[in-house]
Amino acid sequence: MEQRFSRESRCYKTARVFPTDVNNHNTLFGGKLMAYIDDIASIAATKHCRRSVVTASTDSVDFLYPIRPTDSVCLEAFVTWTGRSSIEVFVKVVKEDLLRGEREVAATSFLTFVALDSDRRPVAVPAVVPETEEELKLFETAEQRAEMRRTRREQSKRFAEFLTVKHPWD
Ligand SMILES: CC(C)(COP(=O)(O)OP(=O)(O)OC[C@H]1O[C@@H](n2cnc3c(N)ncnc32)[C@H](O)[C@@H]1OP(=O)(O)O)[C@@H](O)C(=O)NCCC(=O)NCCS
Repeated sequence: MEQRFSRESRCYKTARVFPTDVNNHNTLFGGKLMAYIDDIASIAATKHCRRSVVTASTDSVDFLYPIRPTDSVCLEAFVTWTGRSSIEVFVKVVKEDLLRGEREVAATSFLTFVALDSDRRPVAVPAVVPETEEELKLFETAEQRAEMRRTRREQSKRFAEFLTVKHPWD
């Protein structure tokens, strides 16, 4: 079976926080950070499989610290685990106070992508080989997260069946 190292998918993005990026608390708007996270994670997933991918799910985005206009925001993403066609990507967001040089992990997230063939059907992806302590820890704990996602997906499907698609004005 084809294999790729986690490091082969690793990518980084560093950005400033501009006035158009902040919310009414003058901190980075959560939706902006979520877009950055989905963007960089999709690049890592694509680098891993060299195929088209779609976001199947985002487990959660844990916002640990506010990111201010005097901070830079650096995102790191890499593939931590694969199923048959699914690819788990971990994203770590580090903020740095540019005037003081102090850094903190401001947010973390796990996302799952699915690789698609030219008919847009899920297709098998290479396995991933972790090397660093961080990669190994995330790899070893991934099966448990995948199981939780399967349970949640079933619950989401049942919940969607219960919901109506009717608009209030229909
Ligand atoms: C994700 C999607 C391709 C799955 O297609 P599907 O026909 O339901 O495929 P399957 O049930 O065979 O699942 C394929 C894989 O996706 C995984 N998967 C599907 N839904 C998932 C979810 N919500 N979370 C995590 N993994 C998921 C399955 O576990 C399976 O993994 P495996 O091949 O490693 O075992 C389909 O649901 C879809 O297109 N969703 C919309 C995606 C989208 O529009 N994203 C936003 C824009 S990119």
